[in-house]
Amino acid sequence: MHYRHILFWFLGLTIGGRWVAAENPKPITETCLVCMCEALSGCNATAVCVNGACGIFRLTWDQWVDSGRLTIPGDSPLTDSSFTNCANDPYCAADTLQSYMVKYGQDCNDDEKEDCYDYGAIHYMGPFNCKADMPFTYENIFKRCLNNAIRDGKRQKAN
Ligand SMILES: *[C@@H]1O[C@H](CO)[C@@H](O)[C@H](O)[C@H]1NC(C)=O
Repeated sequence: MHYRHILFWFLGLTIGGRWVAAENPKPITETCLVCMCEALSGCNATAVCVNGACGIFRLTWDQWVDSGRLTIPGDSPLTDSSFTNCANDPYCAADTLQSYMVKYGQDCNDDEKEDCYDYGAIHYMGPFNCKADMPFTYENIFKRCLNNAIRDGKRQKAN
């Protein structure tokens, strides 16, 4: 009886612990998404692909497949147009990025946390190259956007 108690207690801890540590299905904050699209496309919602990267987040086919082929309502994940339809839909594209970061999220800049800077790097440079320097223009717009958001957030709290 005693053993069983301990076993359940232990299982409860590990399973419970896993629940707590379970991946947040949407690790990217709203602010972070806005700054990513700002840096990538100026958040220009005109449906467009640039060198195979589509929509406001400039998603690639590989990222879309890697993230589980999310689709806009009513689309099949198997049709050719599903990728562009999803990438050009802000919600589907954002959800795709969320799934991508659940899978590939990591601390790229060694600051001991996984946050927006890491997601920006992972998306732009790939999960296996995210420690590299960001291209100047992208980094510039991205970081300025984040700094502004942080400043605005503080101002709102102060008021
Ligand atoms: C948005 O992108 C389209 C297609 O590239 C372009 O024609 C349009 O001028 C852009 N709009 C803005 C506001 O930059």
